[in-house]
Amino acid sequence: MNANKRGALIVFEGCDRCGKTTQNRQLFELLTGKGVDTMQTNFPDRSTAIGNVINHYLQNNQELSDEVIHLLFSANRWERMNSIKKDLLAGTTVICDRYAYSGVAYSVAKGLDFNWCWAPEIGLLKPDAVFYLKATPDELTTRGNYGEERYEKLDFQRKVGQIFDRFSEKDSSYWHTFEASKSQQELHAQIAIVAEKIVMQSAEKPLGKLA
Ligand code: TMP
Repeated sequence: MNANKRGALIVFEGCDRCGKTTQNRQLFELLTGKGVDTMQTNFPDRSTAIGNVINHYLQNNQELSDEVIHLLFSANRWERMNSIKKDLLAGTTVICDRYAYSGVAYSVAKGLDFNWCWAPEIGLLKPDAVFYLKATPDELTTRGNYGEERYEKLDFQRKVGQIFDRFSEKDSSYWHTFEASKSQQELHAQIAIVAEKIVMQSAEKPLGKLA
């Protein structure tokens, strides 16, 4: 890719076990195969000190208040922003598994206020596209090892899905919704078409910030 052109920030969002990670990997392989400089990342990033606390919390080994864990998830994004920005400006497309929207959806599903939850996300890099893998949570409970992590409970995931739906309506200019129940290949084919367009279009645009 031309060094003057920036990479695209593409985010995958959806409920637990909706297939994001597989689609993220397949998109990475496709773009890389086409010569697009691409990297994958994910939130929470469990490799940092903050990520380590989040990991303990998710595995039910540590209790934290809903407010504290919310702010830690957000801080975990902030601690990665400079390096992601650097990669994007160097022309690397970044495909990210979960982002600020998960941060808000999971905390609002617990009962926290939407605006309070969104506030710490303001100023983070704005994705060029969010690929929302929309699923009926009832279908997801049949996927392997479901229920092991803290949030893998049906009622809770239904609430989370509703918040993602709300984002997809509100931010429809850059949210793209895909039916997670489709076959892996079908989903990948649909995502690939949109992703290639986004990569081309983003190259010419300045990076935005969440507002
Ligand atoms: P993962 O399964 O994609 O690694 O995400 C771990 C869990 O953390 C998942 O249930 C979603 C949740 N989560 C939040 O509650 N807030 C956040 O900001 C993020 C990124 C994830």
